[in-house]
Amino acid sequence: MHFHQPVLLVEVLRFMNLEKDRGYFCDCTVGGAGHLLAMLKRTERAKFIGLEWDEDAFEYAKDRTEPYRDRCLLFEDNFINLGLILNKLKIKGLTGVLFDLGVSYFQLTTAARGFSFGRDGQLSMAMSSKSPSLLQKLEYAQQHEIIKVLREYGDVHSCRRIGSEIYKQRKALKTTLDLRRLVDSVTPKRFLKKNLHKVFQALRIWVNDELENLKLGLTVALDHLEPSGRIVVISYHSGEDRIVKNTFRDLYRSGKILLLNKKILRPSEDEIRANHRARSAKLRVGEKCVLS
Ligand SMILES: C[S@@+](CC[C@H](N)C(=O)[O-])C[C@H]1O[C@@H](n2cnc3c(N)ncnc32)[C@H](O)[C@@H]1O
Repeated sequence: MHFHQPVLLVEVLRFMNLEKDRGYFCDCTVGGAGHLLAMLKRTERAKFIGLEWDEDAFEYAKDRTEPYRDRCLLFEDNFINLGLILNKLKIKGLTGVLFDLGVSYFQLTTAARGFSFGRDGQLSMAMSSKSPSLLQKLEYAQQHEIIKVLREYGDVHSCRRIGSEIYKQRKALKTTLDLRRLVDSVTPKRFLKKNLHKVFQALRIWVNDELENLKLGLTVALDHLEPSGRIVVISYHSGEDRIVKNTFRDLYRSGKILLLNKKILRPSEDEIRANHRARSAKLRVGEKCVLS
């Protein structure tokens, strides 16, 4: 099965502090375990914690990392709970933390998950089956809230019209194709493809509280980094990257972290040609100061 192709893999391996081959590392977004397996293969003694919110991905990654069970523990959980997990395991500090944000290829291409406007499925979009779906969130949403989501998370063309139509039709909307038809009916043809992408992405970010999770997750991870520990973040959306950039900038100014790449790292043309999904990726790295 083609679950997901890890993005910026060479760069992740370069910046994750793996050469010391000691201490604890955490992959906060395990997905198909592409990055995680590569890090496990690159080391012999270092121990790994993996967090994954999506139960399908969690099960898949658990199978793939089985040969490394003695030094790799996976948890099906939201990465905002990293601190609780580390406390339970009595782990004091992390040598490296990875966030590879967004969704996996598997999630996007599984119709039943409702993430894609190209595949007909229930409008769920929830990463965890224990969290409310888009349909459940729409039941209680106000019109102005939906419009704000489309504007702020998606910069959606005609966000007012689309938002008010979603609000009016929310009881009849059941599937991704229903939502697609709605967007189609109010978007000028030349903006349609981009707008579909933006509407679906904005609603997904809302359903999963992705930006709030990211702010909390970064704070928890940075709190648990040991001196000289590294945090590597790959983002795919301007809202995510802004949060990473601002968090890192504030910590840099207060002398808590060093910025290891002043210019963000982007995938090469070769990587984008081989994996189109990599095209929007941006990687930032911070290193905790020894005297922070
Ligand atoms: C881009 S994929 C990661 C792919 C992975 N690096 C690989 O190489 O296969 C992002 C993953 O993060 C998970 N995820 C998103 N938000 C999360 C959260 N708050 N807590 C834990 N996992 C999350 C998604 O379910 C998805 O599987």
